[in-house]
Parts: sequence; C-alpha cells; structure tokens
Amino acid sequence: TTVNVDGTAAHSIPPLLFGQMFEDINSGDGGIYAELLRNRAFQQMQPNTIEALFGWAPINGTSINVIADPVPLSDALPNSLELTIPSGSSGQVGFGNAGYWGINVNASWTYNASFYYKFPSASDFSGNLTVMLQSSIGAVYANASVPVHGSTTNWMQVVVQLTPASSPVSTTNIFTVTVDGASAIGEKINFAMFSLVPPTFKGRANGLRMDIAQTLYDMKPSFFRLPGGNNLGNSVSTRWQWNATVGNLIDRPGRMGDWGYVNTDGLGLLEYMYLCEDMEMEPIMAVWAGYSLDGTSLPENDLAPYIQQAIDQINFVIGDSSTSKPAALRASLGHPEPFYLQYVEIGNEDFFAPNSYIYRWRDFVGNLTATFPQLKFIATSLPSYPTLDPIPKQYDNHVYQTPGWFAENAFYYDSVKRDGTYYFEGEYAVTSTNASDLYGTFTDGRLIYPNMQGSSGEAAFMTGLERNSDIVFAASYAPLLMNIANYQWSPNLISFDASHVYPSTSFYTQQLFSVNRGTEYLPSTLPQNGTLHWSVTRDAPTNTVIIKIANAGMTTEEMSFELPFVGVQGTGTATVLSGSATASNSPETPNAVTPVTSQIKTGESFSYTAPAYSVSVLRVEVK
Ligand code: AHR
Repeated sequence: TTVNVDGTAAHSIPPLLFGQMFEDINSGDGGIYAELLRNRAFQQMQPNTIEALFGWAPINGTSINVIADPVPLSDALPNSLELTIPSGSSGQVGFGNAGYWGINVNASWTYNASFYYKFPSASDFSGNLTVMLQSSIGAVYANASVPVHGSTTNWMQVVVQLTPASSPVSTTNIFTVTVDGASAIGEKINFAMFSLVPPTFKGRANGLRMDIAQTLYDMKPSFFRLPGGNNLGNSVSTRWQWNATVGNLIDRPGRMGDWGYVNTDGLGLLEYMYLCEDMEMEPIMAVWAGYSLDGTSLPENDLAPYIQQAIDQINFVIGDSSTSKPAALRASLGHPEPFYLQYVEIGNEDFFAPNSYIYRWRDFVGNLTATFPQLKFIATSLPSYPTLDPIPKQYDNHVYQTPGWFAENAFYYDSVKRDGTYYFEGEYAVTSTNASDLYGTFTDGRLIYPNMQGSSGEAAFMTGLERNSDIVFAASYAPLLMNIANYQWSPNLISFDASHVYPSTSFYTQQLFSVNRGTEYLPSTLPQNGTLHWSVTRDAPTNTVIIKIANAGMTTEEMSFELPFVGVQGTGTATVLSGSATASNSPETPNAVTPVTSQIKTGESFSYTAPAYSVSVLRVEVK
C-alpha cells in the first residue's frame, strides 16, 4: 500500500479531540475516589437490617446495628452505627470494615482515619478506643488510641493518623475500632460518618486514588465527561442532583445510583471540577433533562424546577459569586474563580425518549442559552431524529460494536454533511466479537478486557475520527474504569483492584492517539475500506509528521509513505502496540501488550511493515 501525503493541511486538530467519559459504574466509590471504607455513613440504608451493615462486621461478640438515630449527626445522615458491649466481654471488642473488596495497606503512606461518636446515654465510662489497620487474621499494621468518656453525649469527631509498619501484599485487610470489653460491659456507643483516606492525587483533600488518577492523567486527556451516562438518573427522585453532592461530607445524603449500589456522592461536583483542573482537562458536563432511564419523561409543564436546578448547577461551576447563590457557595467552598466550562450536555441518550426530547430540548436549551449565551449545548438524541428546535450545533453519538464494525465504519463521518453541526463521539468501544449479541455473555463473544483485535478496530475508527476532526470535536472510549472485584459492564478502558491498575490495550490505543495528536490534519491517499487504516497529522511547533496506522487484520501489511517535504529526517520513531487477536491485558497478564518504541529509517520515501492486529504511531521530523 502506498500512501502519498499532502503537504497542505486540510484542517486543524480540535483541542478536545481525545478525552475521557466518566460515571460511577463501580469506578467512583471504591475506585477513583480515594475513600477506603465501604458504607462509611450508612447512606440510604434501611435501619435495623442486615443489609444496612454492608461492609461492617462485629469483633469479639459485640452487637452492632444500624439505627435511625434520634439525634443524628446531620439531616443528610439519619443513620448511625450502634455498638453494644454485652456482658461477659473481654479483650478488644468492636467492629471492622473490610473496605471495597480489600484495603491497600502501604507502609509509605499515612492514612487519615476519622469518625464521629457519642454515648447515647451519659455514663461513667472512661477508656480508649483503639483504631487499627489489621490483616484479616488480626496482624496489626497500624494503630492509634483515642481516649473517650461516657459523658460525651453530643457527636464528637475523632481524627487520627495511621502509619502502617509494613506493606502486606494481601489487601484482605480491615479497619477496626475496638474498646476493652471488660471495662465497657453494658455500654452503648454510637458512631457515624467514618473515613479512611490514604494520600491522594496531587494531595487534594477528599481527593482521588493516586494510581488510578495517574493512569488517567498519563493518557493526557483533554476533557472529562461527567457525571453520566446512565448514572444521571434511573428515576426522577433518584436522579443525580448537583446540590446533594457539594459541601461538607456529612451534608451529602448519597443516592441510589443507576448501577445497583448507593453512591456516596463524596466524589461530587466540586471534586469533579478539581479533578479536571488537576488533570488539565475541561469538563463536558451533563445536566439531567427531564427523562429517567425507568422511562419517565416529565411533562413540559413540570420542567421549570429542573431547568432551574440545571441553571444552578452550571452557576455553581461558572457563575459569578457576587451575583449567583450557587457560585457564592462555590466560593465559600474555596474556589471563588469560575471553573472553565464550554460544553453542557442536555441529558444522556435521549434517543430513548425522542418525542419528549422535542420539548425538553427546546425548554432546557432555550432557558440555558438565555442565561449562558456563551455555552455550547450538546444534544443526545440521534442526529437523524427527531427534528429539534433550536437546531443542535452539537450531538453526542454512542456506539458499542464489534471489531469488524469499527474497522468497516472508519469512514462513518466522511459522508456526514458539513452543515455547521459538530459531533462528540461520547461513548464507543468494542464490546463483543458477536454482532448479534453485543451485550451478551462472555461465552457468547462479550469481552471481559479489551483485546488487540478490538483495540486495532477502535484505532481504525479513530483514524476516521481524526480525518473528520473538522466536524468531530471530541471523542471518548467508554466506560472508563472497572473494579475487577465487582463490575456491571465490560470491557472498560482501565481495570483495577484494591492495589493495582491494569491499563488495557484500548487504553494504550487511546493514549497513543492522545499524546500524538499533532496540530493539523494532512490529507493522504485514502485507505481502502478494509482492515488497514491510517491518518496523518503534523505537529506544527516541532514540524513533526505523525502517522497513525491501524491494522485490524490478521496479516502484516507492507506500506510505503511519500512525504512532500524537504528536510525529512532519515531516522524517525515507531511506537507499536501489537499482539494476537485475543492478546489482552488482564490482572493475570497485566503487561501482555504494551507499546514499544524503536527507531525506524525514514525519509521523503520510506517503507513500514504494520504487524497484524496493531496500532502504530510513526513520528518523522522535518528540519
Ligand atoms: O457506558 C455505559 C453506558 O452505556 C452509559 O452509561 C450509557 O450512556 C450507555 O448506554
């Protein structure tokens, strides 16, 4: 295959072309959010049930129960944990929390541990609470002692630091709070709002798990789509509401998320904005737009309060703190300056409710445009249906498909009309090799982890996104993160467990495209509609030609390139990700496929062999 490259750029590469799509789909709580204790505040739990004790266990014969506290810690947290020390107790008695499928105990970290306690009835008790990190069989890694007195009948916060003496390989560890049983017989102590947090990404308070955040950052994403996805809301009452996710943690009630578990909302709107700032990306933020996954579309007459809530949400992010209450709240929480925001997405996948989207789009966008004329709004129905007014300038398209589909659709956007509409490929991924069962079981073709057949197919599609980036302004693989101990969706870009991160072949594909964007698109001989695809960009500041090649086929491909420049250097680099069709980075084989960079001979004419199932990035300098 011969590829002739044109020296005149066709268009510039848009600044947001590659980024990330995030929602809590077993990826926020117990994932990127650094909190280690599960069910830390008994949010949304039914008191006096076994389920309410999820994550917690008694130690040494105590009785623990989640109660509706007559005097709760806060209105948002009505439940507390009641510890009763029974007669006959001896030794250390109390309770423990096993974390989100484990707790990573690391001797190089100091953990901040905290909780609130009170004695529901005054007593003469005087003693110590012992706070520890232990193995599941009682080896103590770190401990701290907290004096308590039975006269403490109002909530009192305890904050201690725990520095483990060693770093066990195993993460089946527990956080425990105990008291000397013999001296506390008959006592009741209530507890609320626990927390155990290791050092966080960039040291941010209430921040992010370092290794996961670093991996996201290493992709050099330009945007972060939040907070969903489906997690925008399964019903009107359980929808994601920005105001319930900001402020003191004890004022956040949590909500039943859309993926089958309670979201703590510790990772709230402000934390999302800090995440974007700390990772040098901009948010693409969704507002709930009157439709829930349970099928409810609100009637037009009922929309007003929800539109106001969306306005408030946006004002929290970008409003002027001297004129807007939500913005003043942001300022009071430590960020007087507005955050950077250009794009607001109106709902998620509203192609599921196209008829009501006609008025919901009209009313949301009409009001939001009047308040924020500088913002750009993204529609989430199909560009082909229904006809919306005002005409959307941006659409979010989603596709989950097979490797073959992605390679065959690398030209998807080439035939799309240039009519002033811009596209966000907001979710895409190979989910299965089985076109008739895209969301099926592993035995029927569904992937657990991305593999090279899928990733090279995605890369083929991405060369098309790059070629068409005059109208495709942003694109993100989805979903982003998967806790291998418990997940609702596969495959995901990055997997993790309590102590490891496993970047997939699709992660490396995204990273290769993202860190090798260039600033302008150079037209070249078009690929045939097969499995070999490429696109060429130039990084103007460094005068480097960047060639991306996706070979989604089972045979190597011989290619030759003709560059129309004088001064093309004789040596360039090739960074190559390749493996067998099923080669995949799993927890068992985390580094099965990683990019390898080597020098190659380049020049005005040069040849390159693209391995089967590969993604290659060639960089050639022009002096
Ligand atoms: O990425 C997983 C889900 O796929 C998203 O929540 C939803 O938008 C899409 O259907």
